[in-house]
Amino acid sequence: MVRIGDPARFIRENTEFLPSPLVPEIRLHVASDALPLWEMTEEELEQVGLPPPFWAFAWAGGQALARYILDNPDVVRGKRILDFGAGSGLDGIAAAMSGATSVLGADVDPFSVTAIRLNAEMNNVSVLSVADDLVGMPNQGWDVVLVGDMCYEQPLAGRIESWLRGFVADGVTVLIGDPGRTYLPKSGMERLATYNVETSRALEDNDVRRTNVWRLLKK
Ligand SMILES: C[S@@+](CC[C@H](N)C(=O)[O-])C[C@H]1O[C@@H](n2cnc3c(N)ncnc32)[C@H](O)[C@@H]1O
Repeated sequence: MVRIGDPARFIRENTEFLPSPLVPEIRLHVASDALPLWEMTEEELEQVGLPPPFWAFAWAGGQALARYILDNPDVVRGKRILDFGAGSGLDGIAAAMSGATSVLGADVDPFSVTAIRLNAEMNNVSVLSVADDLVGMPNQGWDVVLVGDMCYEQPLAGRIESWLRGFVADGVTVLIGDPGRTYLPKSGMERLATYNVETSRALEDNDVRRTNVWRLLKK
């Protein structure tokens, strides 16, 4: 039986603290198949007042992007970072570990905001988090925007693309981690790296997803 008390307690009680397969340097509070959160359907979650727990998984796109950041720290070192659609905060944590000046993790799910805080603390880095839909908002001083696995549905992906292209036109670096989701932009991107990412059968149709890291270009 899942009980929702305060979000931090809920997260600690319904997850395990485990290394991410492609990014073992970073450990996260994640749902495992031994825990009830994993088994709950979207309907059951809705009944107890919870959105699907995206924050409880290290998504393939997020893992690839975090790997790329840790292996290429110059991309974020000394920069102000937005981890957009942060989920667990994996990419923001990778940026903070790689010497970013500041990192904001933004996600519409308030549970994600708590998960980001807990995960950042446990990895000994500082990541601020906010429960907001930032799409359409002006740049708040970010040099780099990280987008881990956000192209899975429309109209969300379309809204994100035109918003982020505006940032690119102003000189912001926008990096996207994506395992071939349907609504990934079809052009105007440069591929930076490719990884085979171990995933879960409960989330994906394969145990391993070939996943790219892209830089969004001006159109
Ligand atoms: C597939 S998960 C990816 C999470 C993380 N970036 C990763 O790769 O592990 C997508 C995330 O986007 C968040 N999201 C969806 N729409 C959003 C929006 N308009 N603004 C911010 N976050 C959003 C969801 O709540 C979810 O946490």
